[in-house]
Amino acid sequence: MKLVPKVYTGESMDVSFTPALCIHAAECVKGHPEVFDTKRRPWIIPDEGAADTVADVIARCPSGALQYLRKDQRPNELPDVPAVIGPNSSGQLVARGDLRIRHEEGELKTYRATLCGCGHSHNQPFCDKSSICKEGGNN
Ligand code: SF4
Ligand code: FES
Repeated sequence: MKLVPKVYTGESMDVSFTPALCIHAAECVKGHPEVFDTKRRPWIIPDEGAADTVADVIARCPSGALQYLRKDQRPNELPDVPAVIGPNSSGQLVARGDLRIRHEEGELKTYRATLCGCGHSHNQPFCDKSSICKEGGNN
């Protein structure tokens, strides 16, 4: 699966979303429904929220599908130190830190990722919610 981010431009930050990484944990739509609304197009409007709040919500996106770039001189996201990886209750491997993840197209640099722990994902090494995690997969 191609890891192609789509960028949503705002005044104080740009937000990018990579559909192939999203595990539909809904942290974004629960965290800030005005900015993230899947029933609207575009579904992300960064300027609908305060940039600090939007940054906090994006930092909770477990898959790294959401990223942001501040344009208002405020600091960007920092990685968790030390990096930590471990299973959640759904069997997914949740990783946070300064990560370099090899995949079929190259290497992804990210601070957040949800990796496949069951071996059945069609988007290895990322979880695609195809198997054990289908029912109860969450953050
Ligand atoms: S994985 Fe990230 S982008 Fe996907 S629904 Fe969850 S919080 Fe939103
Ligand atoms: S853990 Fe989700 S597809 Fe393997």
